Amino acid sequence: MDREIVILPDPPALASEAARRFAGLAVQAATDRGLFAVALSGGTTPRMLYGLLSREPYRRAVPWARVHLFWADERCVPVTDPESNFHLIGEALICRVPIPAQNVHRMPAELGAETAAHAYEDLIFAFFGGPSPQFDLVLLGLGGDGHTASLFPGSSAAQETERLAVAVEADYQDRPAQRVTLTLPAINAARQVIFLVSGSAKAGIVQAVLEGPEGEFPAQRVRPTSGRLTWLLDAAAAAHLKISSQTGTSSNAFYDPGSGCPF
Ligand code: 6PG
Repeated sequence: MDREIVILPDPPALASEAARRFAGLAVQAATDRGLFAVALSGGTTPRMLYGLLSREPYRRAVPWARVHLFWADERCVPVTDPESNFHLIGEALICRVPIPAQNVHRMPAELGAETAAHAYEDLIFAFFGGPSPQFDLVLLGLGGDGHTASLFPGSSAAQETERLAVAVEADYQDRPAQRVTLTLPAINAARQVIFLVSGSAKAGIVQAVLEGPEGEFPAQRVRPTSGRLTWLLDAAAAAHLKISSQTGTSSNAFYDPGSGCPF
């Protein structure tokens, strides 16, 4: 697994780096394979990124007609509910960019978690047309308990090794408990996984996940089989890390995008 850790000075710089990478991956995928299939996360952290992508230069730079949006997880609430990840991404991004409606593949969580999970698996297999669906990018957040998507510590969903999407019931902050989530098989098949983590409240869990003992947190089990894993952190979220930015699997090279490439 090829892993890099990139530390940005603040949330705007974090969102800018994420937008730059999103656009680059989208253009490359659209050029190489004719489309860019990306699974997005909800929560508060990616909002600034979605806003950036909805404005120039990214509104024009991203080949939206060839972008296919999927969700890493969804809460079982109506799409009109502000707690819906579809609602979040719809308002912040979908309504502001020229993406065709047929390219938006939301999780039908209003059907109920189990029904929606099976329907989403069928949708993914139908879209990718083969036994091994591979997203070009999965964008993930990190919860304060080490969850990602809706794969929570101690849950059977985080242990799933076959299915691509499953139903979840989880209590986290004051967010809806009934959810649908992509599983680790779906996430780890991706060409690129990017974690986007911001703020001092996440500094402890970031250090535990990246430098603590393996296996305790679902986020630690995100290890792309053949793809790249990138952690984009702002300085506040990275404050407890012993190392600074790190690129590659063995190198301790330090990479600060603001000062150019040191290699
Ligand atoms: C969700 C997200 C979830 C989120 C983390 C971090 O549905 O809530 O998919 O996995 O990424 O909980 O959330 P914040 O960005 O709000 O800290």
